Amino acid sequence: MSSTAPVPLVVERGGGDSLDDVMDVMTAAFDRRFGEAWTRAQCAGILPMAGVTLMLARRGDEIAGFSLARRILDEAELLLIAVHPDHAGTGTGTQLLKRFIADQQMAGAHNLHLEVRDGNPAVRLYRNTGFDIIGRRSNYYRGTDGERFDALTMALRI
Ligand SMILES: CC(C)(COP(=O)(O)OP(=O)(O)OC[C@H]1O[C@@H](n2cnc3c(N)ncnc32)[C@H](O)[C@@H]1OP(=O)(O)O)[C@@H](O)C(=O)NCCC(=O)NCCS
Repeated sequence: MSSTAPVPLVVERGGGDSLDDVMDVMTAAFDRRFGEAWTRAQCAGILPMAGVTLMLARRGDEIAGFSLARRILDEAELLLIAVHPDHAGTGTGTQLLKRFIADQQMAGAHNLHLEVRDGNPAVRLYRNTGFDIIGRRSNYYRGTDGERFDALTMALRI
């Protein structure tokens, strides 16, 4: 008799050499209509900056998702979080978000915040993890056909 054990999810730090993996997930996860995804140049530009952390979620050989965050003193911002559709709905996003919170707490952050398109299902993920909506930025995102979408600002005090 043989059994196949589920492949565990490992969350680990990434760097400049992870850009291909990040862009694979970015391209697959974000709906281009909404203008939320970052370009490779934007990612490459921010990675070397002080306080910026890239985390990769890996299942075996596959990159399931990533998060990108920036901390300045006791404030940390979740810049991006994305899960490849092949791994969606299995708790990867929740694990990446919980790891973001834990890592930033360890680093001395007390105020966490993020921006998310109004209507993005990720709002539920953030609410589940304790974030509250504290503001709205009108017309913050610009979609591929020029349509504008509001952003919600969400925050969590830790
Ligand atoms: C948002 C995202 C990271 C969630 O990743 P995930 O691994 O599928 O999330 P989880 O399995 O941990 O689910 C977390 C919760 O969010 C909800 N959720 C997240 N994305 C959802 C979606 N696309 N549709 C419906 N529900 C969604 C789940 O229902 C779940 O809530 P529940 O437990 O109360 O049912 C993923 O959908 C994604 O990459 N989206 C595109 C990129 C994006 O918009 N990122 C956020 C802005 S940077």
